[in-house]
Amino acid sequence: MKAAPKVFRKVIVTGSVLERRMILMTDELVPKSLRRKYTEKEISEIEKRYMAPAVTHYYRDPVLFVGGEGAILEDVKGNRYIDLFAGICTTITGYGHPKYVSTIKWQAERLVYTSSLYATIPYAVLVEKLAEIAPKGLTRSFIVNSGSEANEAALFMSKKFTRNPYVVVCQRAYHGRTMLTREMSAAGWRTCPEAHPPGVRFTPYGYCYRCPFGKEYPDCDIECARYLREVIRTQTNNALAAFIAEPIQGVGGIIKPPSEYFRIVHEIVKEYGGIYISDEVQTGFGRTGKKWWGIQHSKVDPDIVTMAKGFGSGIPIGGFIAHPDIAADYTMTDAFATFGGNPLSCAAAVAVIEIVEESNYLEKAAILGTMMKRKLEELQEDHRLIGDVRGQGMMIGLELVRDRNTKEPATLEIVKIMERCKDKGLLVGKGGLDSNVIRIQPPLELTESQFDESCTILDAALTEVEREL
Ligand SMILES: Cc1ncc(COP(=O)(O)O)c(C=O)c1O
Repeated sequence: MKAAPKVFRKVIVTGSVLERRMILMTDELVPKSLRRKYTEKEISEIEKRYMAPAVTHYYRDPVLFVGGEGAILEDVKGNRYIDLFAGICTTITGYGHPKYVSTIKWQAERLVYTSSLYATIPYAVLVEKLAEIAPKGLTRSFIVNSGSEANEAALFMSKKFTRNPYVVVCQRAYHGRTMLTREMSAAGWRTCPEAHPPGVRFTPYGYCYRCPFGKEYPDCDIECARYLREVIRTQTNNALAAFIAEPIQGVGGIIKPPSEYFRIVHEIVKEYGGIYISDEVQTGFGRTGKKWWGIQHSKVDPDIVTMAKGFGSGIPIGGFIAHPDIAADYTMTDAFATFGGNPLSCAAAVAVIEIVEESNYLEKAAILGTMMKRKLEELQEDHRLIGDVRGQGMMIGLELVRDRNTKEPATLEIVKIMERCKDKGLLVGKGGLDSNVIRIQPPLELTESQFDESCTILDAALTEVEREL
């Protein structure tokens, strides 16, 4: 018998790869181009020359952030800002959380990447943890890189499972920027007229401030939810693959339907044999308070939950967790992502889940969130621009209107308010079909005193802008 060729033998050396590598690690090895100090102007020049024009920033004079701590961001000049938007509802553990940063460094020193063609510890540990915190009956996860990808995967899987072609989506929803998820995003300018993948249908969401039926809660009989049956019957030929909804719409303007909405639509979806997908990209990981997932407040058991944003608290990662029956015939020929489930992102996500548990964010988001909403309602009493205050936990929206009777959207005013807030050290987000909703979705690390300071700034900015009207 021939001996195995020597080249295939394992090479044994003394000391682990890590031990040898640690000796070499030093800041000096980081590219000088990253370590040198830049001004805002220099970066802006580079961006103007080389970045795709699609990349735009908030504010007339965009801020150049270089660091952060907790809920505070620091710019290149050393100015500090309270971040009530967490990037975009993303950095739930705040900036520079010691456990989060240590985990990323620890994993980077070991193994940043290999594909899911091979087993890795972080991917396995993460999916086990997800199964522990998922809504009832959901155990099978697939990890990708973003919310859009997660939704694409969940929808593909639903179509394959049901053998049905149609997906019903809520008006004003936002589900991503791939061709299909754009088409499923009905928040105005976010749709994609060039794309039009087939099979997407829309149904009303529970938007009481501007009820599409002109009714008032609770006398409305939640017609917005019941209308789904009409959509399925008249627009899908009863061939429903999936219904997908955010428990609270984020990009659409922090819209929270009446509590019965999801129970009613869930019943209808099940009546027609569809898959219920809860898009928890913004509401996931405790943001809505007390529960890990927004849909759990409605006592609805979804078939699939999709996630991203706070999942990695800044590190790119998305994914879904599904009922095992639905996940069963989803195969590698259906789905593979080069970076999906990479060790670095998965390790960061494991750290995020542990931080949420150890810091008791679920309770905190409920208690601090209730207090935040109350203070914002007090602010509403003093400011005619605030038409509506809504949301749950640490996900609150202020819909700004020029006139509380006509509800004309205060689209220009919001830009001025955001500029003033930024100048005074406060960052808030913007959303809504008419871009007139202030979005407050801070890191769950935010403190009560930071929120009090934020209210003082918001109050001053609103006063200044209202004076000019
Ligand atoms: C509810 C919801 N779903 C999906 C997405 C898409 O996520 P991503 O930007 O990671 O693709 C977003 C992004 O804002 C979102 O808010």
